[in-house]
Parts: sequence; C-alpha cells; structure tokens
Amino acid sequence: MAGSARRSEGSARLWHMTTEASGPNAKQIKLWNEVSGPNWVAQQEEFDERLEALGLAAMDRARIEAGERVLDIGCGTGQATLELARRVSDGGSVLGIDISAPMLDRARSRAAESGVRDVTFEKADAQTFEFGPARFDLIFSRFGVMFFDDPLAAFSNLRNALRPGGRLAFVCWRDPEENPWATIAVDAVGQHIPIKRPKPGVPGPFGLADSGDVAKILDKAGFSNVGFEEASGKNTLGTGGSLEDTVAHVLKLGMVADALREAEVQDTTEIAASIREAFARYATPTGVHMNSAAWIVTARSP
Ligand SMILES: C[S@@+](CC[C@H](N)C(=O)[O-])C[C@H]1O[C@@H](n2cnc3c(N)ncnc32)[C@H](O)[C@@H]1O
Repeated sequence: MAGSARRSEGSARLWHMTTEASGPNAKQIKLWNEVSGPNWVAQQEEFDERLEALGLAAMDRARIEAGERVLDIGCGTGQATLELARRVSDGGSVLGIDISAPMLDRARSRAAESGVRDVTFEKADAQTFEFGPARFDLIFSRFGVMFFDDPLAAFSNLRNALRPGGRLAFVCWRDPEENPWATIAVDAVGQHIPIKRPKPGVPGPFGLADSGDVAKILDKAGFSNVGFEEASGKNTLGTGGSLEDTVAHVLKLGMVADALREAEVQDTTEIAASIREAFARYATPTGVHMNSAAWIVTARSP
C-alpha cells in the first residue's frame, strides 16, 4: 500500500514535470527555477534597489485605492507585492504569482517578516492559470510580463481575470538600444563566443519593448485606453561596488552567464577583460551606472 502510494505520487510528480517541460513557457519555467531565480534571490537587494523607483512610478499611475483586489504578475521576491498590499489596506488584498519557486520562497519569508497582511503568493503561470472571471480590480507587474511564449494568450487570460472597468498597469523595458546595461556586456562577450543580442518581441527582458506591437496585443486581448509613458532612470550594475566586482557580477547573470554555459567556457579571463574595458567609462566611485529606459503601460478592461 505504502509502496503503491509512493509510486503514484512519483508518477504524478513526473507527469507534472513533463507537462511543464514541454508546455507553454517551459523554457522560462526552467530558467527561473534553476538559474535566474536562484541568482536573483542571491542578489535580491541590488535588484530591488535598481527596480524600486520604476515600480513605484507604475503603482502611482495605477491609482490604487484602499480595499482593492490586486494581482501582481511575476511578483518575484515580492518587494512590489508588499508595497501593493500596504497601498490597498485596510480591506484589500494582493495575490502575487510567479513561476519561480525560489523567488516565491523569498517573497513569502519577506511577507512574514514584514507583518504586512492580506498578501498571498502562489506558484502559477500568468498565461495559463485559471484565475476565475472578474476577480481583480487591478493587475500590476514590475518587469514580470515580458517572458510569455504567447503574449496574446497571456494578456487575454489576464483580462478575463479583471472586473469590467478594472485596470492593468505594468512597467517593462524599452528597446535594448536605449538600455546600454543590456547590450554593452553582450557586445563585449560577443568578441569571444557566440551570444544572442537582446531583441524586442522575443520572450525575455525586451519581450514588450515595441510599443506598437504591445498596443496591438492589448487591443486584441480586449483592453481599451492603452497608454504608454516613458520612464527613465539609472541602472547600477552589480552591487554598486568596484569595476572588478561589477564584471564578476555580470559574468554570473542573465544572457552572459547563459552564453558562457552554452559555450562551456572554463577560463573567463579574456572575456572579463573585454567587459572591464567596455564598462570602464561608466565606472564611478559608487559603482558602474548606465541609463535605463522603461515603458509604464496602462490599460483598462472595458
Ligand atoms: C525580472 S523578474 C521581476 C521580479 C519582480 N517583479 C521584481 O520586480 O523584483 C521577472 C519575474 O517574472 C516571472 N515570470 C516569468 N514568466 C512568468 C509567467 N509566465 N507567469 C508568472 N511569472 C512569470 C519570473 O519567474 C520572475 O520572477
């Protein structure tokens, strides 16, 4: 009996993994659970510092009111989710969803430490999760909606979860060419090994960079009053430490780390030297700072 229970539990788990490994967003689910998620958790404070102001600007545009029911998509380690919960209290609630178990673990422990109430976290894919109709007044995201395999399916699913008159507000990156933090290291690495340059329109940080395409997707998904506002800032790469620390940070993260792994690079000395040279003119006593450019996107469910 115990043996068969164990067997069926095992096969259920296997079925679940197989589904995720081949279903929608399989690549991102693997990435955010196995590589990017653990890396993000390890450097959560730096990421929060980098993204906080843009997230707050998007929240301000969302005109949140106490008592509202909010969904935070790709909530990650939860900094913005907790701020949303503060803004809707008393009487409101926030659900943060994410596909990354390590990021959700951190979000849950931060929520417990903060004492903020009426916030819950769930492991769910925004593209496919059945939220139930008209469940939220606001759907928000801080850089968590650019990774969908099928953005039209995802935003249609999300619109269905909004009540009539409900709002969508999110912040996402503009074109990579306006975000040197995303291209300069990649170009330096590209002198040595194959590496994909970030592109608008493919699942990833720049998936929603083209406002024309995003307007069409949101329109087809049934949203109205779609608006784009430019928001700019400074991105501090790495920990705000020395040039050397910043290069070490970049080698461990995102597209650069992926390319190093794929090319099975053992010795990064020459690649690090090229990144160091490219970053040198951005280095200051408080770290390596580069411009960042984002869209704050707002829309309504009719
Ligand atoms: C760039 S991080 C941003 C995290 C967080 N919002 C923040 O600002 O700190 C993107 C997040 O989106 C999540 N994500 C990617 N695709 C998703 C999907 N289909 N459904 C839900 N979350 C997703 C990732 O796991 C990751 O936590």
